[in-house]
Amino acid sequence: MKIAVVGATGLVGREMLRVLDERGFGTEEVIAAASAKSVGSTLDFAGRQLTVVSVDAAIAARPDYALFSAGAEVSRQYAPLFAAVGTTVVDNSSAWRKDPEVPLVVPEVNIGAVRPEDRIIANPNCSTIQMVLALSALEREYGLRRLVIATYQSITGTGIRAVRQLESEERGETPSEPAYPNPIHRNLFPHGGDFQPDGYTTEEQKLIDETRKIYADPEIAITATVVRVPVVGGHSEAVNVELRRDYDLEEVRRLIGSTPGVILYDEPMQNRYPMPILSHHRDEVWVGRVRRDPSQPRSLNLWIVADNIRKGAATNAVQIMEHLCGRTK
Ligand SMILES: NC(=O)c1ccc[n+]([C@@H]2O[C@H](COP(=O)([O-])OP(=O)(O)OC[C@H]3O[C@@H](n4cnc5c(N)ncnc54)[C@H](OP(=O)(O)O)[C@@H]3O)[C@@H](O)[C@H]2O)c1
Repeated sequence: MKIAVVGATGLVGREMLRVLDERGFGTEEVIAAASAKSVGSTLDFAGRQLTVVSVDAAIAARPDYALFSAGAEVSRQYAPLFAAVGTTVVDNSSAWRKDPEVPLVVPEVNIGAVRPEDRIIANPNCSTIQMVLALSALEREYGLRRLVIATYQSITGTGIRAVRQLESEERGETPSEPAYPNPIHRNLFPHGGDFQPDGYTTEEQKLIDETRKIYADPEIAITATVVRVPVVGGHSEAVNVELRRDYDLEEVRRLIGSTPGVILYDEPMQNRYPMPILSHHRDEVWVGRVRRDPSQPRSLNLWIVADNIRKGAATNAVQIMEHLCGRTK
């Protein structure tokens, strides 16, 4: 099997190479592609070195699968060119997620949305992936009426430039090419993506649109505030959930705790609750602080944490590919 990783030099791309190796693809032919500035450089993969090639060269190699993480513009331009030579693309950017013809997939939740003829499959936004997986059993059992979400998103969600900005600021230096318009060290800001005319940001809008698409339920009421925090290791989310019917709290815990890929970690009196420091480099979605919301019926609060580079991006993309090629774990 031949697999191209487009954006292989980036935060997500490098993690994709690690995940491919960890999940048994180390002996496959892997093609690392990135921008012109990286062509000819090398990347470690499965004990060998890959020489980075251009995206055009990767298309010419006609891979079976192409895992994209090079931004929406690159995906819009090149994903159809890969599809035209018979490659199946799994795309991490926002380019295709809203396209009704393109399935948007978290494998544990809706792998059934992929049809045999699909050549482009979209990986959801990192904050969406962890939330829809954590809530998937509640969605099936009770139905979701409304979600009120506040995120605490890691700077790694913005890519390498953001990591460099934080590291420069930690050293007391002024970053040369900051990813954000404000300092992030010893700070946070209620801002992810771009502001829309309605006052919400594009990251907030993604949580709304993508959640409805994945659950195939346009009726779920959703509102979100995205906050960027100077954290490495994962995104955290406080979510207030209103279910469609009343629930038993122990049953809710049982459902969450038995969801594949989810860890219920909820012993707050023992200081055991999900934190990015726990989720870092792991694939599971961690859920804690599960408690009834006494302010309105059928409602509860919970706290969800996952490594945005792993399950929020690289791992989810590789899992989709595993389903497509019949090599699921
Ligand atoms: N970080 C996350 O948590 C996360 C989660 C989900 C989805 N994503 C999405 O994944 C994508 C990449 O994110 P990232 O965090 O890995 O960003 P990043 O660290 O900035 O890496 C960007 C990658 O894209 C490549 N690239 C840029 N322009 C290119 C071009 N014209 N042609 C070919 N390759 C090009 C870069 O190559 P060079 O090194 O050669 O410039 C690099 O490999 C984005 O679409 C992002 O929205 C990220």
